[in-house]
Amino acid sequence: MRIVKIIVLVLLVAFVGIQFIPTTRNQSDSVPSTDFMLVNDVPETIQKKLQVSCYDCHSNNTQYPWYNKIQPAAWFLEDHIKEGKDELNFNEWDSLSSRRKASKLRSIVKQIESGEMPLDSYTLIHTDAKFSEAEAEEMINFITQLKDNL
Ligand code: HEC
Repeated sequence: MRIVKIIVLVLLVAFVGIQFIPTTRNQSDSVPSTDFMLVNDVPETIQKKLQVSCYDCHSNNTQYPWYNKIQPAAWFLEDHIKEGKDELNFNEWDSLSSRRKASKLRSIVKQIESGEMPLDSYTLIHTDAKFSEAEAEEMINFITQLKDNL
């Protein structure tokens, strides 16, 4: 039993210890003029869905959940946001060339069709980020039309 107590104590100290390691927060007050919503004529329902389902990981401003105050959850989120933004940042949309935009739009359609985005680990908690069939269809139609008009 002694060894179990020691292990629990060590884990507890480590858990408390990692809470003091700072993380970078992905937050910004301003929306740059290159933002996807500002440079495209996006219907309100689509704007809302993108905000709720994608912007937390694909923009410069994340609405953090309470558990972002707890490690190692915060590291997990930080990692997803960094990787997500590297692939696609809606705030910087208009800085992409037309070719890159077309390729990203194709990729967005693919991700939604296959149900890969938003990530399962995200919709587990953010249930409103999930797509109903009708929402997916509306989004795919809009994105496809945007691509065809590039
Ligand atoms: C919880 C964070 C998170 C959310 C929410 C999220 N993504 Fe992602 N996204 C990622 C990460 C991480 C990657 C890079 C790794 C990968 O492809 O799985 C990525 C990659 C992508 C890519 C590039 C994939 C490729 O391989 O070309 C596209 C496009 C994309 N996401 C679109 C979306 C759209 C559209 C939404 C909303 C419907 C969304 N994502 C919601 C985290 C997220």
